[in-house]
Amino acid sequence: MGKDVIIALDFDSREKTLAFLDQFTEEKPFVKIGMELYYAEGPAVVREIKARGHKVFLDLKLHDIPNTVKKAMAVLSGLDVDMTNLHAAGTKAMMEAALEGLTRPDGTRPLLIAVTQLTSTSQERMEADLLIDKPLDQVVMHYAKCAAEAGLAGVVCSPLEAGKVHEACGGGFVTVTPGVRFADGEVGDQVRVTTPAKAKELGSDYIVVGRPITQAADPVAAYRRCVAEFVG
Ligand code: C5P
Repeated sequence: MGKDVIIALDFDSREKTLAFLDQFTEEKPFVKIGMELYYAEGPAVVREIKARGHKVFLDLKLHDIPNTVKKAMAVLSGLDVDMTNLHAAGTKAMMEAALEGLTRPDGTRPLLIAVTQLTSTSQERMEADLLIDKPLDQVVMHYAKCAAEAGLAGVVCSPLEAGKVHEACGGGFVTVTPGVRFADGEVGDQVRVTTPAKAKELGSDYIVVGRPITQAADPVAAYRRCVAEFVG
């Protein structure tokens, strides 16, 4: 599994996204397209960015009944994305159906990654709203194990959890980790942050980096700094 930096393209239009990507004349970064851009521009923007030579992580976090997710995943697979995701809370049956839908006739498929508990969910809210009374880190690890048992490729988690996930689910189980900031950068609304170098040390497979690159005065230089620290 190649370590890589994934840039979160958190823009609300094709124009802004392409203007950002146009700055990269020498490299073709792996990029993440989330709900905002996908809902604004639809599958056309995914095809266009793929056609420009980028690998794409389509971050739509599917969560529905197994049959619906299976059919939706078949559509996403047709977009030829490299990575996509769902909520492990949809159950193993949903995750298995998703894998089936995602698998192309030739047996290949994008990497399918599970979201465990969102980092915006606190212990208190999980207990009160979701009626889950186990410790949050235990819940996250349980969801990760369920994802591995269902045959998924990995999970989205904090770099601080990457080691534990690898211990529980195997070294080949991919950890995709947001919450990355430069040591001298702004934290913004992220709470638990890690530098690219620290994420590498902790065993993250992919780091997802948004604002430290997209809002930088020189995004290409910021991307190269991330790659230098994380990939080496
Ligand atoms: O700008 P920033 O580096 O904080 O962007 C991180 C990206 O990763 C955003 O697209 C955010 O939605 C996503 N993400 C996250 N934390 C999670 C899951 C996804 O920050 N637990």
